[in-house]
Amino acid sequence: MKIIAADYIYTPKGFLTGHGVAFAETIKEIAPVKTLQQKYPDAQLIETHKDSVLYPGFINTHVHLEFSSNRTTLTYGSFIPWLNSVIEDRNELVKKCEPQTMLNACNELLRSGVTSFGAISSFGLELEACIKAPQRVVFFNELIGSNPQTIDVIYADFKERIKASSMHAENRIIPAIAIHAPYSVHPIALRHAITLAKENEYVLCAHLLESQAERSWLDTSDGEFQAFFETNFNQSAPLTTAKEFIEAFDGYPTHFTHCVQATKEELEHLYRQGHTIAHCPRSNRYLGCGRLAIENLKVPFSVATDGLSSNNTLSILDELRAALMLHHQGPLQQLASKLIRSVTSDAADILKLECGQIVPNKLADFTVITLPDTPKNLEEIPLWTILHTKEASQVYIQGEQYV
Ligand code: BEZ
Ligand code: FE2
Repeated sequence: MKIIAADYIYTPKGFLTGHGVAFAETIKEIAPVKTLQQKYPDAQLIETHKDSVLYPGFINTHVHLEFSSNRTTLTYGSFIPWLNSVIEDRNELVKKCEPQTMLNACNELLRSGVTSFGAISSFGLELEACIKAPQRVVFFNELIGSNPQTIDVIYADFKERIKASSMHAENRIIPAIAIHAPYSVHPIALRHAITLAKENEYVLCAHLLESQAERSWLDTSDGEFQAFFETNFNQSAPLTTAKEFIEAFDGYPTHFTHCVQATKEELEHLYRQGHTIAHCPRSNRYLGCGRLAIENLKVPFSVATDGLSSNNTLSILDELRAALMLHHQGPLQQLASKLIRSVTSDAADILKLECGQIVPNKLADFTVITLPDTPKNLEEIPLWTILHTKEASQVYIQGEQYV
């Protein structure tokens, strides 16, 4: 048993002061430090710096590790030029992305306080790094392919990758399914994959309505995707509408990424179906996709980094700062609190993880953030956390310290 003491503890009931947390692999008790020491006299006491805040470990629900070698190769600014650059440079980037490159990416996540993440895996190449990394990984095996001639082979490979990711529970790997996007997955394969997710209770995610180009293509078979599909796939119309695609997920809550171009009606449908959104503010900005109006959003959302294929860092703290600047509408303090919730309890609910809250029986995943000075008001701690923190001072996963 260990006891960690911090000046401030983030709990569902607000910030506690003068308290500690007793924990082993899971959280046992939250009480004044003295009380815990009397009750658990053999427990090791872990102290934290003055003005430290104990948070549940942060959760990044959407990241692509396989493109971690990209820095200055892919074209940013507009979605289709970016997608063309992905197709042109994919092989080179994936070749350059060695297991160590991906492990370094996991380490960047860790140093920013991320103790669990959702890895979107196109090829299964990051499995080795995710096994070695200390974090809990929801390993989203991705299905991508619209060509009916090749879809059977693609689907068989997809099932093999799911199997491979199912054998590492002891390394905290949780198998899951990702559908690439409405424009890139054959509707029949889509139905099979959703059925597979339901049968095995896999967490399910899908990119959805990221760009204006995707909107035009799905609605009216035109826009920038027209030339893209003509050139690359000899295809003149999409295989599905947005409505058909979205309704295929009815009855099975799914984590949709981006949704920047979703209509009010579509967002209302996502809300009614219990779906959630991964909001990647920097990725959306860098690929010219627009802004998700989170101030009006009823659908629960997480803030996530996406991959280094559409971002400049994997720090969740950098992402929260970007979200704070991008969403200038509405009260600042409330937004900061909502953003912290989006990477803790809300993200845990989305990925169906038993962490994300400092309450008894949850997994003992913690991120310690040290503020540069004493906060005048407890309610301002989320804002000071986001504004002042470059790296976590300590990080624990299932009771073990990793930073
Ligand atoms: C496809 O495999 O069909 C596909 C991949 C990327 C973008 C669009 C379509
Ligand atoms: Fe993504």
